[in-house]
Amino acid sequence: MHRFDTVTSLRQHLNSLRSTQKVGLVPTMGALHEGHITLIEKARQENDLVVSSVFVNPVQFNNPDDLARYPRTLEEDSRKLEAAGCDVLFAPSVEEMYPAPPALRLNFGELETVMEGAFRPGHFNGVGIVVAKLFNIVQPDRAYFGQKDLQQVAVIRRLIRDLSFPVELIRCPTVREDDGLAMSSRNRNLTTDERRQATTLFQALTLGRELLAEGYDVAQVKAAMAGFFADKPAFRLEYVEIVNADTLQTASEVLAPGQTAICLAAHLGNVRLIDNLVF
Ligand code: PAJ
Repeated sequence: MHRFDTVTSLRQHLNSLRSTQKVGLVPTMGALHEGHITLIEKARQENDLVVSSVFVNPVQFNNPDDLARYPRTLEEDSRKLEAAGCDVLFAPSVEEMYPAPPALRLNFGELETVMEGAFRPGHFNGVGIVVAKLFNIVQPDRAYFGQKDLQQVAVIRRLIRDLSFPVELIRCPTVREDDGLAMSSRNRNLTTDERRQATTLFQALTLGRELLAEGYDVAQVKAAMAGFFADKPAFRLEYVEIVNADTLQTASEVLAPGQTAICLAAHLGNVRLIDNLVF
């Protein structure tokens, strides 16, 4: 595996290969887990050259403590990427990615008004800027994103459409721990006791899915899911939403198969967790 930390050296390397090879990009913020690795493996199957970035993007953090606490494990990540068959690791410094703070502001319209958009103002501006920069730097044919961050997938779809990036977006399924907890780099910041309780999010989503399947309406299901947290004081529930899985706008009824997503966000101790199930 090759490793680069400057844009120029990465570009030179990729340009020498690009004419003959399909390039798959897997953007990450590191602290890699099995969820990230499945994206690398899918990219490995579908492309000649797999590029992954590890960059904790300050512009997308709306909470300075969250940025400070974000786990950084570059050497371990590098080993995991190599073992998974990644060809190129791009691990730039903040100065390399942002020689000056970006003046550009991106707004994703109605996607900013719900869930992560509403509760993390400016977050998708930062995601959009860094992913647009990575698309320009790497010029991938395909880019791989996890369903774990379903609203992020919708934001990237919009970015690709609005700015005509010649990139195919591939959404990959959420990888879970044995007890159902969605894998996440932030899970490392849970205490042992919090980790044991963290499966509550998946249990609430499963309850929601069962109730929808039984024919309860959206309002009843949201209320039941919120109620599920009522006797679990360790959690501070931020939202429960039932939405169109593509537009992320609130759904008033169950949509066609694969079109309805149940989404939630909750704080557990210092850690903010999000998860979703597509129904
Ligand atoms: P990060 O949280 O590191 O996630 C990188 C990619 O891995 C994202 O596409 C995310 O959805 C996916 N992923 C995370 N957990 C997963 C899981 N349990 N199963 C499947 N896929 C999972 O998302 C980001 O970084 C950043 O916002 C980024 C896109 C890199 C821009 O900075």
